[in-house]
Amino acid sequence: MTSLPPLIRAEDVLSESFSARQARDLDLRHGNEELLYGLNLLGVAGPFTRLSPWELQDVNGERLIMAASYAATPFGEMHPELTDFLRDFMEQNRAMTLPQQSVSPWRAALGANLVALLASQLPSHADSQVFFCSSGTEAVEGALKFAKAYRPNASYFISFSGAYHGKTYGSLSLTPNPEYQDVFRPLVPGALTSPYGNLEALKTLLRRVGPKNVAAIIVEPIQGEGGVIIPPAEFLPGIGELCREHGIVCIADEIQTGLGRTGHWFESAAQGLDADIITLAKPLGGGITAVGATIARADIYKKMLGGLSSKRHSNTFGGGALSMAVGLKSLEMIVEGNLPERSRRLGEQGLARLKRIQGRYPGLLQDVRGQGLLLAMQFHPMVAGSLPLPGAVKELAYEATAILAMRELHKSGVIANLSLSSKRTVRLSPALNIPEELFGELLDRVDDFADRNPSAGKIMTNTPPELLARLGAFAATKPKKRTPSDG
Ligand SMILES: Cc1ncc(COP(=O)(O)O)c(C=O)c1O
Repeated sequence: MTSLPPLIRAEDVLSESFSARQARDLDLRHGNEELLYGLNLLGVAGPFTRLSPWELQDVNGERLIMAASYAATPFGEMHPELTDFLRDFMEQNRAMTLPQQSVSPWRAALGANLVALLASQLPSHADSQVFFCSSGTEAVEGALKFAKAYRPNASYFISFSGAYHGKTYGSLSLTPNPEYQDVFRPLVPGALTSPYGNLEALKTLLRRVGPKNVAAIIVEPIQGEGGVIIPPAEFLPGIGELCREHGIVCIADEIQTGLGRTGHWFESAAQGLDADIITLAKPLGGGITAVGATIARADIYKKMLGGLSSKRHSNTFGGGALSMAVGLKSLEMIVEGNLPERSRRLGEQGLARLKRIQGRYPGLLQDVRGQGLLLAMQFHPMVAGSLPLPGAVKELAYEATAILAMRELHKSGVIANLSLSSKRTVRLSPALNIPEELFGELLDRVDDFADRNPSAGKIMTNTPPELLARLGAFAATKPKKRTPSDG
């Protein structure tokens, strides 16, 4: 028998005797090296340690307010109410941990609560059913399969320009972003795109392909990764009407917006859309683990998972006790903290502050948008659009604007997110329960960032030329084996 190499012990990581330096080196060597290398060049790769649920510290001892995590940390990092509950769960739970073939009290309780909550907003969902999984993209895959099984003769799915539904094959096929799609073509057949927010264009598309040939329309009530795009008021109800008229399955992707982020329990319901299927994920995991859910009307659910076909769609980990317990407690914390309402109120203050910053520095911010604690700053391009640069270089410069803005925000003590489908937009999505004082401080820091970067061009001149050169070389070269010292 060959002898095993010395392995890193879990206790060493827990006790931090496994150093930040070791973590960085090994994560770069064996993880998504290029991504981490780029982030490391920018000085935003961490690793970070937690000071409180809402504040982190970087390797240089700088204190940062967390406004990122792609909207997946409703209570910040390891909120004590959740971790105390989990300690009890670990000690006291006697239910099976992976109850794939048996009844689970945890899954039962979370499923019932989700349906009750949804039905309180949309009574037609009173007898809906839930399929649990372990990510947002998997929740979307489930939704697409439910729709297809319900309308087996229909071969089209419609999503919208700027949409983001995930990166597995089905959800990717409905995420019309060439950067993510092109190398994987041919995609899942039948994926069509209509302009977001434009009901007339959707009607035209339906007439062109024939509504009976459309299995489902999938829509984000507010586009998150698309840069926090809020559609016109008639758009979502109009989609609902079209779906009802033609029997098309309507899927509201609430993975980013749902459960309070945008100030409502379900943004689609609040905007007058009674979708047939709702997908949820991010906040259900409490910022701790992966929980996804596809909620479907009973007739749709049973079409895919009826009788002997009830094993037609399955997974190993969905509905596991730990993730269901986290989901159950997270939902309870959102309800008891009245977090959707809080998110709406704080979000209004936040957006007003961002608008004031835009008013002060119109050469920095082209637009600010938001609803609830999903806020976006869209920057002007760092290099003037009129410069005679090749298209690809201009594209890169546009993308670099948000990347370098993120670095500058970091220097002001704010961890922000890029928007995966909107190149010049940076998002702020702090915890829904962030203390008000800290939220005020977060906005003060954005103020500070803007004072230091009064125009988009200044973001570039504030970036050391050597770093610009290294970033340029990084963008221009083919992937190669990096050494951490490269960064
Ligand atoms: C609306 C929406 N759908 C789907 C997804 C994919 O979720 P995940 O990253 O958990 O696969 C996301 C992620 O950002 C999202 O915002």
